[in-house]
Amino acid sequence: MTVRTVIIASVCTAFLGACTQTPSHSAAAFASETVARGKTIYGQECAQCHGTAGEGGGPASLGLGAAPPDLVGLKMRNGGQVPRAFVRKYVLGLTEENDLAGPMPDFARVGLRHVYPKGGADGEVLEADFESLLDYLETIQQ
Ligand code: HEC
Repeated sequence: MTVRTVIIASVCTAFLGACTQTPSHSAAAFASETVARGKTIYGQECAQCHGTAGEGGGPASLGLGAAPPDLVGLKMRNGGQVPRAFVRKYVLGLTEENDLAGPMPDFARVGLRHVYPKGGADGEVLEADFESLLDYLETIQQ
């Protein structure tokens, strides 16, 4: 009787374990992980100018000569969609709109230097980080 109870208990535990582990591999959980990662990157590389929550006018924006625009209005300013390709290229300093002599860092040159203070991020990591950053920006749109 006791043995049977133990077996039933362990089968149940294994089953519950399987159930509780499943969500961490689901698409939704993956999305929230990448959003959290994007938020960290944003906080380290962008917030000082574009504001803690993307509202513009972060602490480092004073005296730059050009006001960092808010990033919460990207969707509104671009026909209801975050212009992911534009933002990606802009951050890398690759659009015609980029003023490479302007205050915004050319991240293709300087890299995500606060996220990787010692360098060493390969292209693949940066690619994934970019997706995360864009996913985060999607979540803060007005
Ligand atoms: C040192 C301040 C600074 C930092 C750090 C910075 N930016 Fe900027 N950003 C600016 C300024 C100023 C502008 C306005 C154009 C210019 O002068 O370069 C701008 C413009 C932009 C634009 C164009 C917006 C539009 O509507 O045209 C995007 C997108 C952008 N930044 C995204 C980012 C992201 C994402 C990061 C972090 C990876 C970042 N910026 C980091 C200062 C900064």
